[in-house]
Amino acid sequence: MKKAKSAYVCSDCGATALQWFGACPSCGAAGTLTETVTERPSRGTIAVARHSAESVLLGNIPVSEAERLPTGIGELDRVLGGGLVAGQVVLIGGDPGIGKSTLLLQALSSLGSGSKTLYVSGEESAEQVALRARRLGVDTAPVHLVAEIQLERIAAALDAQRPQVAVVDSIQTLWSEQLQSAPGSVAQVRECAAQLARHAKKNGIALFIIGHVTKEGTIAGPRVLEHIVDTVLYFEGDPNSTFRLVRAVKNRFGAVNELGVFAMTEKGLKAVSNPSRLFLSTHEKPVAGSCVLVTLEGTRPLLVEIQALVDSAHTPNPRRLSVGLEQNRLAMLLAVLHRHAGIATWEQDVFVNAVGGMRISEPAADLAVCLAVVSSLTDRPIREKVAVFGEVGLAGEVRPAPRGQERLKEAAKLGFEKAIVPKANQPKGRLAELEVIAVERVDQAVQVLRNL
Ligand code: TYD
Ligand code: MG
Repeated sequence: MKKAKSAYVCSDCGATALQWFGACPSCGAAGTLTETVTERPSRGTIAVARHSAESVLLGNIPVSEAERLPTGIGELDRVLGGGLVAGQVVLIGGDPGIGKSTLLLQALSSLGSGSKTLYVSGEESAEQVALRARRLGVDTAPVHLVAEIQLERIAAALDAQRPQVAVVDSIQTLWSEQLQSAPGSVAQVRECAAQLARHAKKNGIALFIIGHVTKEGTIAGPRVLEHIVDTVLYFEGDPNSTFRLVRAVKNRFGAVNELGVFAMTEKGLKAVSNPSRLFLSTHEKPVAGSCVLVTLEGTRPLLVEIQALVDSAHTPNPRRLSVGLEQNRLAMLLAVLHRHAGIATWEQDVFVNAVGGMRISEPAADLAVCLAVVSSLTDRPIREKVAVFGEVGLAGEVRPAPRGQERLKEAAKLGFEKAIVPKANQPKGRLAELEVIAVERVDQAVQVLRNL
C-alpha cells in the first residue's frame, strides 16, 4: 500500500509546500508550516458520485425581483443599489478610524423597530458601543448587541436570533476554534468570513462584515475576502478632512462605482446632499493652476477642482507628483502637451492634486489636468465658472467622455457659465446659461483658454 501523501500547510496564509521549511515560502512567517495529509492512497480509479448534479434550463428557474430593505441612510442605500437584500453579505473595508463602526451603528438604528438587528462587536466592549450610541443619539433604537469574538458562538447567535440585518465588527478580531492561527491571520479571516457568509445565506440575514485595510503583510486585509462576499464597499477619505466617501467596488445586486458622500460630524456621519460643492475650493478670485473638472462617480456627475503647481526644478530629474490622480498618466499628458501644444515642462517640477481627498481614475480628467498645468505654468488663472472634461490621446486629440450630457447638466445646475468639452460631447440643444465650447485637439483647448 502506498503511503499517504502529505503537504506542509502554512497556518497563517494557507499556502502549501511539499517539504518543511523554517519560514513559509509564501508569506515568510516563521514556524507556521505544519504537516497535513492531503490525499488518501489512490486505488487507481477516480471516484465518481452515484448521483450526478442535476442541471436545469436557465429559463425555467423561477426568479423574483429581490426585495430591497432600505437602511434609511440614503447615501448608503445608493451605494448598495437601493437597499439590502436578504442573505446579502456586504464587506465594508477602510482604514482604522475612518468611521465604519459609526456608519453601521447608525444604519442599524435607523432600520429601527421595523427590522430585527444584531450588532456583533469584537473590537469594543458592550459599554463602549453603548457610549457611542449615546453620543450618536441613537441609544433608544432597538439594536441588539453581542460582544463576542469566537466564531462558533457568533454563528450560533445568528442561527438562534435570526436577525434581518447583522453587523460583524470586525472580521480581524474573530477566531475560529477550528484553526490554530492567531485572529487576523489570513487563514482565520478567510475561514470566519466563509462561515459567517454561510450562516447569513442559510438564515436570510443581510450581513455587514467590517474589515480594516491594513498595511500589507502583517495582517490580512479585506482584499482576501472580496470573492466570498456579494458586495464590497470601501470607505475612503482624507483623515484630515471631515468628508468620507463610500464606494461600491463589487456588487452582485447593483451597479459598481456608486459613491456615497458623508461628512463626519459631532453626531456621527451625515449624508451630504450636494457633494459637488465639496470638491471645489472657494477662492476669493480665480487663482492660477486651478481647473474645475466634471467627473463621474458611478452614475453621479461631480465637480472636482484639479490643482496644478508648476515650478522650476532644482534637480536634474524634475519631479512629477500627483495626489488623487494617476502619476503615469500625468507624465504622459506632459509629453502630449509638449509634442502637440508646444508647452515644455521638462525643466519644471509638476505637482497635481484633486481637491478634497478625491481619487479620480477615469481618463476624462485628462483635459482638466492639462489646462491646470498650462494655467500654472503661464501664471494665468482660468476665469471663474468654467468646467472641463475630456480624455486626451497620445496623438493630441480630445476624445469624448461617457455621459457627457449628464456632466454638462450638473455643471449648468451649479451655475457654471462655460464648459470646454470634447467635440463629440457637444449637446444638440442649449443648456440653461451654460456656453459649451467644443474642442477637437489639446492645442485648441489651450488656445480657448487664452481667449476666455
Ligand atoms: P469609527 O467608526 O470608530 O471608525 P472605524 O470603525 O472605521 O475604525 O470612527 C471613529 C472616528 O470617528 C473617531 O476618530 C472619532 C470620530 N467620530 C466623530 O467624529 N463623531 C462621532 O459622532 C463619532 C461616533 C466618531
Ligand atoms: Mg470600529
